[in-house]
Amino acid sequence: MIARVVLIVCAMLGLSCTPAGDRPHSPNTVLVFKHGKLSGNGAVLSDLLREFEKRYPGVVVREELLPSSSDRQHQYYAMNLDGGQAPFDLLGVDTIWAQEFAKAGWIAPLDTLLPPAEREQFFPGPIQAATFEGQLYAVPWYIDAGVLYYRRDLLERYGVAPPKTWPDLVHAAQRILDGERDAGLAGFVWQGRQYEGLICVALEVIRSNGSDLWDGDRDRAEAGLQFLRETVAGHRITPVSVGMADEESTRQVFGAGRALFMRNWPYAWSLLQREGSLVRGKVGMAPLPSFPGFASAPVLGGWLLAMPQGSAHPQEAGELIRFLTSPDAQRLVALEMGYNPTRRALYADETLVGARPLLKELYPIFLGARPRPVTPYYLMLSQAVQPEVSAVVVGRKTPHEALEAARRQVRRIIGNRELSIVTEGL
Ligand code: GLC
Repeated sequence: MIARVVLIVCAMLGLSCTPAGDRPHSPNTVLVFKHGKLSGNGAVLSDLLREFEKRYPGVVVREELLPSSSDRQHQYYAMNLDGGQAPFDLLGVDTIWAQEFAKAGWIAPLDTLLPPAEREQFFPGPIQAATFEGQLYAVPWYIDAGVLYYRRDLLERYGVAPPKTWPDLVHAAQRILDGERDAGLAGFVWQGRQYEGLICVALEVIRSNGSDLWDGDRDRAEAGLQFLRETVAGHRITPVSVGMADEESTRQVFGAGRALFMRNWPYAWSLLQREGSLVRGKVGMAPLPSFPGFASAPVLGGWLLAMPQGSAHPQEAGELIRFLTSPDAQRLVALEMGYNPTRRALYADETLVGARPLLKELYPIFLGARPRPVTPYYLMLSQAVQPEVSAVVVGRKTPHEALEAARRQVRRIIGNRELSIVTEGL
């Protein structure tokens, strides 16, 4: 497998083992690349880094992994970026952090690394996330949006189409669960632990009912939260354990053939379809459902690459960011690991789309995915409302009580300004 990956890396990058030419760089440089653990074959990324080292003799790249959870990574960075002496040279940044890190002076502006004309080649959402007060602070690495996975074989067996609305999903799940009573199937699994992933799910459900978590029509927001609780307590299509679930645990349940529907990010697709997977060939992916009369509202996610302020090796770190976000590297990571490109042209790339036809369906989903508030205060907002949404999921608060408290917290953080005004610095 590793040999195959090396071969592909060489082929795709034209194996220009020739040093990257005349660009000056200091020899004997160790670049520490800090990022969250990715799923799938980690050898793909290490091989890319070895390829980079060949191009820049004397530069060694050391990967240092953090847990995959966005919240835990944020804790690490909040402790280690403050003070301008970060023990690493480049880092993976969740789309929701770039404003905060830029405002705090924790990451360096990268305007010259990606000139405005080249920025247009990327999806606009991640570029907006990476732009603070007119300057670019990070380069989009891979893009995410919430999607619905379903067991195609089971839906076909019962003559049920992939659901377009949440009520359709409930009916489909109840009907199939009824027919498969002995199979120990869960109907619908999603990320319900108290963390950032839960906020993404809640936003998707509430926005697909024409409201929002932070502001907007109260009744529709409450109905969205109520729906999440009902999947567990009323419709009984979701196990109580959803209150502990994150992306990977839901992926494992679905991957073991123990769930009919799953909300997750697109990375799960390749893992579910890989050789040896119990559900290989039995899975479909569709846009998330909505409430009748409203549109599907996937949340925009994904990761960017940035450089800490005061890095000892800004030039080499910048080259590595360019290398990892280049079309060739993005193509390879999409092909071999299933993390999707931030460069739009790759969705029309024959090699890539030929091997992963699903990219055609994902393209409009990524383009239409809705960002979480683009503001330096996003983490404060999210962390203030996480306990409230979680309290609804586990049945400790009614949607009315939770929304009331959540919106009170939001007001406390942003004052009387409209949420959109918080982003005016862009
Ligand atoms: C994924 C997304 C990221 C999001 C996180 C929540 O990693 O790419 O944007 O914040 O999930 O768990």
